[in-house]
Amino acid sequence: MVRRYKYPRFLSRPRGYVVLLLLSFLCTMYSMLHFIYYKPGRANALLYRYQAMQETVIDYVYYGGIRRRKTEKNMYIIYIYIYDIKGSASTPAQTIPYLPLNYNYSNFDVCPEKFPEMKGQIYVNMTEIPLSEVNTNFSHIIQHGGSWEPHDCIAAWNVAFLIPFRNRFEHLPILFRHLLPMLIKQRIKFSIFVINQEGDDLFNRALLLNIGFVEAMKIDHSFDCFIFHDVDHIPENDRNYYGCTGMPRLFAEQLDIHGYRLEYEDFFGGVNGVTTQQFKNVNGFSNQFWGWGGEDDDFYTRIRHYGYNVSRPPNNYGKYQSIVNHHTQERQYLGRFSRLKHSVERNFIDGLNSLHYKKPTIRHYPLFTNISLKLRPD
Ligand SMILES: *[C@@H]1O[C@H](CO)[C@@H](O)[C@H](O)[C@H]1NC(C)=O
Ligand SMILES: *[C@@H]1O[C@H](CO)[C@@H](O)[C@H](O)[C@H]1NC(C)=O
Ligand SMILES: *[C@@H]1O[C@H](CO)[C@@H](O)[C@H](O)[C@H]1NC(C)=O
Ligand SMILES: *[C@@H]1O[C@H](CO)[C@@H](O)[C@H](O)[C@H]1NC(C)=O
Ligand SMILES: *[C@@H]1O[C@H](CO)[C@@H](O)[C@H](O)[C@H]1NC(C)=O
Repeated sequence: MVRRYKYPRFLSRPRGYVVLLLLSFLCTMYSMLHFIYYKPGRANALLYRYQAMQETVIDYVYYGGIRRRKTEKNMYIIYIYIYDIKGSASTPAQTIPYLPLNYNYSNFDVCPEKFPEMKGQIYVNMTEIPLSEVNTNFSHIIQHGGSWEPHDCIAAWNVAFLIPFRNRFEHLPILFRHLLPMLIKQRIKFSIFVINQEGDDLFNRALLLNIGFVEAMKIDHSFDCFIFHDVDHIPENDRNYYGCTGMPRLFAEQLDIHGYRLEYEDFFGGVNGVTTQQFKNVNGFSNQFWGWGGEDDDFYTRIRHYGYNVSRPPNNYGKYQSIVNHHTQERQYLGRFSRLKHSVERNFIDGLNSLHYKKPTIRHYPLFTNISLKLRPD
């Protein structure tokens, strides 16, 4: 005997389907709202990608496929997101000491980029702690104002870390507790600057960094490497060497919230570094990106325009964890896509050579120097 499957009674009436549809609609809406509320960073990133795609489609229609490369790039993004969500391979265990071949410690040699204390993967502790706890641990090692240099060899680079900042006080201690020990292990001479934007105007990350560059150079002429470090990016591998190279470098190549994949081929944001000369050559950042997003893509265009390639850390060392509520507090810059189309034209007139700002307040704290000012859109 064949057993007939019986539908629930209410589905035998059309009204039953309406109820079902309504229920599934409500469920979808609920999970979307839930996602946006609890994962605003991801939601924002998706929105960003959606806008970029939309822009591409519009270009495609208007210019009939001339901007093919860009389309392919975005197709690539979609591909990654749909098919390749698996994590990344972890760094293989190191059996031989992490040192250059035949290296002899000497006070008179330039420090190499490898030291045995650099063990690779580091444990990231995202617990919020007060700044005083990090101060206690490091203020006897780090000079007041946030600088340090090695004494058992000559530092290869004198690095200025510029951290664009507004209201993320709980992020600073988390960054410091991971970054400082790492830099000390790497024997890098460094100084840390927090560039603080006062007031509630739109955030201008790039302008802050230009100002940070000029002000840091006033404090120490001998900086030869600048690293622009978002406060919510925590390095996961202490072999990700924080020095410059002959090419601008992208340190934060793989981010946990993007499944440890490069966000897109031309991505140059989060944590990156250039030599002082490279930064001057490209005329710094654009000053015109008010609100979150776009300034890093513009900077990438500048770099490429000057014939530089982007260098990236080897062996998947460029892994970072981002502190949640990434990008939530700052409003997006919606005009960025149209501005980005003219990156090259603006290059010569918009940047270090067109920088105007009122004198910042400079204060020295135990682990950093705070360069603070209000920015005015003109
Ligand atoms: C280190 O010292 C050894 C023995 O003195 C020497 O053979 C070797 O060349 C030195 N290595 C370097 C990189 O100078
Ligand atoms: C994370 O940091 C907090 C505060 O310093 C500490 O109490 C906690 O034990 C740490 N967690 C781990 C797993 O080390
Ligand atoms: C401070 O140092 C202690 C002892 O080494 C360590 O357990 C603790 O996690 C450190 N805290 C921070 C915030 O670095
Ligand atoms: C940049 O990379 C391209 C392609 O790999 C290469 O042809 C070019 O020579 C590189 N440029 C520099 C300045 O190294
Ligand atoms: C930097 O200084 C400004 C103005 O003095 C202050 O409002 C801000 O909180 C400081 N930032 C940090 C991270 O201490």
